[in-house]
Amino acid sequence: MKEKIVVLDFGGQYNQLIARRIRDLHVYSEILPFQTPLSELEDPSIKGIIFTGGPNSVYHETSPHIDEKIFSLGKPILGICYGAQLMAYTLGGKVEPIAEREYGARKVEVDSTSALFQGLEKQQQVFMSHGDQVTALPQGFRCISSSETCPNAAFEDKKRNLYAVQFHPEVEHSLKGQEMLTNFAYSICHCSPSWKPDDFLATKIEEIRQQVGDHKVLCALSGGVDSAVVAALVSRAIGKRLTCVFVDHGLLRKNEAKQVAETFSPMDLNFIKVDAADDFFAHLKGVEEPEQKRKIIGKCFIETFEKEEQKLDSNDYFLAQGTIYPDRIESGLGLSAKIKSHHNVGGLPKDIQFLGLVEPLKDLFKDEVRAVGKLLGLPDAIVHRQPFPGPGLGIRVVGEVTPAKVHIVQEADAIFREELEQNGIRPSQYFAALSNMRSVGVQGDSRSYDYAVVLRAVQTDDFMTAEPYEIPFSLLKHISERIINEVKGVNRVLYDSTSKPPSTIELE
Ligand code: XMP
Repeated sequence: MKEKIVVLDFGGQYNQLIARRIRDLHVYSEILPFQTPLSELEDPSIKGIIFTGGPNSVYHETSPHIDEKIFSLGKPILGICYGAQLMAYTLGGKVEPIAEREYGARKVEVDSTSALFQGLEKQQQVFMSHGDQVTALPQGFRCISSSETCPNAAFEDKKRNLYAVQFHPEVEHSLKGQEMLTNFAYSICHCSPSWKPDDFLATKIEEIRQQVGDHKVLCALSGGVDSAVVAALVSRAIGKRLTCVFVDHGLLRKNEAKQVAETFSPMDLNFIKVDAADDFFAHLKGVEEPEQKRKIIGKCFIETFEKEEQKLDSNDYFLAQGTIYPDRIESGLGLSAKIKSHHNVGGLPKDIQFLGLVEPLKDLFKDEVRAVGKLLGLPDAIVHRQPFPGPGLGIRVVGEVTPAKVHIVQEADAIFREELEQNGIRPSQYFAALSNMRSVGVQGDSRSYDYAVVLRAVQTDDFMTAEPYEIPFSLLKHISERIINEVKGVNRVLYDSTSKPPSTIELE
């Protein structure tokens, strides 16, 4: 029995970061919905529970609440932000709105006699983001941290092993946040640093075997790191009962279809390549709205897989997908606000013909997926490939997607990537997109009225937030010249210098 800390999800955008930070301490952690029945939480392998933050106010009837009996399970609990307010409110304390929302790095004083803050200096910088705060503690609690603006920045009931922080220890701006989580995991929950990424492999392989039983799996392989890792994992779990289908939807980067086929067909994965470009373009004709494009591409994908399944020996297949955590959170998993439908999540039709979905990476961040890929022995070229969205260039062409526009992006993107790689510049993600803006230019002696290509390069660890990459201007200028000279239909090249948020990484 592996010990773990469960994170109950109350809906913030950064919740998975908490589980991630606990895993970084070599303690297994997973997210569960806040409605998880108490009977499941009684599992003795659960050594502690964390309540996440969330966008709601506890005193609204429709906000997520929790059964008071959870506090009598005898398990240590740490409430964070909304989770702290919920703990106080449920146990009889008082939560009230503050005059002005508090957001950003703040100084607090902490009491290091509390197990949560042991070994820490009195003055701490933490990250606050809240519109309500706890104004009266429930019986049995004492205040263990405060600031000028937040009287109960943290509180504890040591006897019942209940702890709460108004701030976010999981966020980097809380400089000693990881130490606080370490104290919670090791000193309060008494976990030991015993979990290793290899355990993840063993656990997932076993889970896949359990889920799939004697059936088979069709894996949607895009050639990217996520689906390649899934294919390798499922292959380890069920061997030849795996078939991998690679759909060339015509929205891939230049030469990509050929490269993917060359990489994967020699592997023992029953690799099938399907040419479906005409079908995808026909469905995308006249469609401009990005959400609609994603839905169409997602639906075409599934229909293509279903058609392939029908060609196979039986209809006895699960569908495996490389869905990772950020895909789900941005598609509006649980209570988080929906930002867009990732094709492998929100784009799925309700009743697919498969026996079910196999998504072994759904709780991981990209860098964790790469670590798993390395453990599985995948080649570096796959493990370190920059991310490429499932809907492909379909969401890098703003407005209607046509073969001609896709061709422009493919060519411009190939030049951009070639130049950055040749100059040893490797941002986390970099690509060209096509705006739907046409403008006047002058080429040779004549007037042109052509498209503007947008170049985007960002630096990020978790792809939830990102900073624009500072490419030397002389190189940008050289790349622009090459694109204008070599790609027909373009007379302007723009560089996107926005962060995420407020932008996203993709340009759709
Ligand atoms: P955004 O644009 O949401 O991108 O800031 C975050 C990361 O996710 C990738 N992305 C996707 N990946 N299917 C995927 O597999 C999708 O539908 C999708 N949309 C965005 C994006 O490339 C970036 O790495």
